[in-house]
Amino acid sequence: MSDRLFEELLNETKTLFREKFGAEPQTLVAAPGRVNLIGEHTDYNGGFVFPMAIERWTIIAAGPNDGAEKATIYAKATDETADFAISGEILPAEKVEWTSYVQGAIACSLEKGAKVAGFNAVITSNVPLGGGLSSSASLEVAVATLMEELSGVKFGAVEKPLLCQKAEHVFAKMKCGIMDQFISALGEKDCAMLLDCRSCEPKMIPISDPSISVLITNSNVKHALTGSEYPERRASCEEAARRLGVELLRDVTMETLEASKDKLVDEENGDRLYRRARHVVGEDVRTLKMADALVAGDWATVGAQMYASHDSLRDDYEVSCPEIDVLVEIARKIGPEGGVIGSRITGGGFGGCTVSLVKTEKVAEITEIIKTEYKKAVGKDATIFATRPAQGARVL
Ligand code: GLA
Repeated sequence: MSDRLFEELLNETKTLFREKFGAEPQTLVAAPGRVNLIGEHTDYNGGFVFPMAIERWTIIAAGPNDGAEKATIYAKATDETADFAISGEILPAEKVEWTSYVQGAIACSLEKGAKVAGFNAVITSNVPLGGGLSSSASLEVAVATLMEELSGVKFGAVEKPLLCQKAEHVFAKMKCGIMDQFISALGEKDCAMLLDCRSCEPKMIPISDPSISVLITNSNVKHALTGSEYPERRASCEEAARRLGVELLRDVTMETLEASKDKLVDEENGDRLYRRARHVVGEDVRTLKMADALVAGDWATVGAQMYASHDSLRDDYEVSCPEIDVLVEIARKIGPEGGVIGSRITGGGFGGCTVSLVKTEKVAEITEIIKTEYKKAVGKDATIFATRPAQGARVL
């Protein structure tokens, strides 16, 4: 199924390139989206995340232009062609559009020495946009991979996600953490990545048991993290860390947090800062616990961590939404007897998707129940697909 999806997208990209530019593409690259199994809103606190790349990709086909000092790129998603600077001083545009991600990744790649001659390209993607599955990181990483290939400059393993993150900060004006770019660039087939976001050291954890599947359910409530909520959460964490006298919440244990609670509670914020910090500190513990339990095949513990993560994101961090809560409750109700190990919101929040670990033999049944019950409760259709952990960015 996934191979077929990939081939279809690849063929479409090649065909579009021929149509738009009247030549065969010379270079093809792909970078995947991601789903985070657990460890949400911990990356910018220097904590732990546990994502995997998914079988959905951004693909770019490229070829030389006739000597023009620019890149001309067609994006299937918006059916638009735009020109991009490939030299000189490149400044971010005021308005953030798809072009911001592309121009940002080109500019930040150039900054790292990846000089290129003018080129034409076509970009396609089957990562759902605004679904919390890192469509934007997959776009940045695909562009950076293309820049590597065209320039012959190979970025370092950590350098590449960092330059893509910078593109997102500066050009897309979203102060994201490092998780999405890291997993899209460095994901490995059949593995999830336990990433220490302070040292940037990944540890690959095999998820090779064919009897377990990762199910992604899109609530079809679009999320946009460029609004004020994400930066507000970041700022709250920084303020909490400051009051607790540490650089990052990563350095706080549950014991210290409880003992210093009064530093985080005041008239203006009530216990808001305390609850934000409680989520982050607890989530780091849950993430490590879940990774261990996964290796041990201790599914009850895996499930418990996922539900606890969801509850904490809903109540303490307040980044869920009613539709997503409905999806998690449906999964919880199906339970282990019905083949659901655990379920939670995934990604930045405020809509998007849930991730569930389920018994492979029950995928069809579970999908049916979730679709029916979600429609009944919310009046919307949920889009559901199963995925294996996929390979990170690559040249085809
Ligand atoms: C978004 C950001 C990530 C991370 C998640 C929340 O996806 O891009 O860096 O902070 O939200 O875990």
